[in-house]
Amino acid sequence: MVYAADDTRYEKLPYRRVSDSGLILPAVSFGLWRNLGDQMPLENSKKVILKAFDSGIFSFDNASNYGPSNGTAEETFGQIYRSDLKPYRDELIITTKAGYHMWPGPLGEFSGKKTLTAALDLSLKRMGLDYVDIFYAHRWDPNTRLEETARAMDLMVRQGKALYVGVSNYDANQTKAIAKIFADLGTPFIGNQVSYNMLNRTAEEDGLLDTLDQNHAGLIAYGPLAEGLLTDRYLKGIPDDFPIHRTNSVLFSSGKSVLMQKLNQLNHIAETRGQKLSQMALAWLLKDHRVASVVIGASNVDHLVDNLAFTKNNHFSDEELTQIENILK
Ligand SMILES: NC(=O)c1ccc[n+]([C@@H]2O[C@H](COP(=O)([O-])OP(=O)(O)OC[C@H]3O[C@@H](n4cnc5c(N)ncnc54)[C@H](OP(=O)(O)O)[C@@H]3O)[C@@H](O)[C@H]2O)c1
Repeated sequence: MVYAADDTRYEKLPYRRVSDSGLILPAVSFGLWRNLGDQMPLENSKKVILKAFDSGIFSFDNASNYGPSNGTAEETFGQIYRSDLKPYRDELIITTKAGYHMWPGPLGEFSGKKTLTAALDLSLKRMGLDYVDIFYAHRWDPNTRLEETARAMDLMVRQGKALYVGVSNYDANQTKAIAKIFADLGTPFIGNQVSYNMLNRTAEEDGLLDTLDQNHAGLIAYGPLAEGLLTDRYLKGIPDDFPIHRTNSVLFSSGKSVLMQKLNQLNHIAETRGQKLSQMALAWLLKDHRVASVVIGASNVDHLVDNLAFTKNNHFSDEELTQIENILK
């Protein structure tokens, strides 16, 4: 059966402009890091992605190394794009990144010109696209001159392979440095994709949110549910083999029982707001206009639908915000 998108999709989810640019993102984007790669049946991935689009999510986030096996998340997305989403290309924001280990040898990672150029060409091929909407340098490269990385990305835009560029996992000073080069080159720099959630506030402490705002760019928050910790799934226990991402590993530093206590306290506030913990976690991030979009991951349609119901209550009273801060201290 030919897929036809839900006609009411743009009435379901708020969307926001990234600073004063022409780019508009849905408040929630969908990421394919490790939930829909080679280990998942294609039929399920298709269900989740099309449900996301039908729900108002028109931004899909990939990376060259997503899978779990390198390239397989982009392949999955490419298959679904070719079979179902291609007629909607002008409505879609499709993003990818390069910089983490992608192929064998010294040129298979980081942000030199050859590496980034080859990576983007491969990503376009896997996804069946002529261009991506945002291309991100996935991580800071301590060895390559920043001008080289910025110029390589500027060229992608001039060649029409990317409409906007961004960085990912850069701290505030690194962001400031590359934003200056992009401004000098006239490159459309749109933002920084970093780990940001109620439990991980590095982006605030580091001054990154302010730096981005000053540079007419937005923060794109990945892992807004702390990889699922900010849901009702782990309120009774966190498994020993929980695959925590390095950016969130500090959450376990005082022990899992301390974290679980916080999660239960947060869950109690969510309940008094008439919502689930995951819904409160998304609403809490999006109360800041500098957060251009939050990128969620899910391999389960019910999780996706559940989370998007955050829109039913995305206002916080001062008292609720104080209670939350006291728990997170
Ligand atoms: N730039 C970077 O370096 C970087 C790094 C990491 C991530 N990202 C991006 O951010 C995206 C999201 O990252 P993430 O997967 O860590 O995000 P997340 O949304 O914080 O966590 C996703 C996890 O939460 C679970 N979950 C979601 N909703 C749930 C619910 N209602 N109840 C119970 N469990 C629920 C999912 O389980 P199920 O799979 O069972 O649904 C999944 O395991 C990635 O796909 C990627 O695009 C970027």
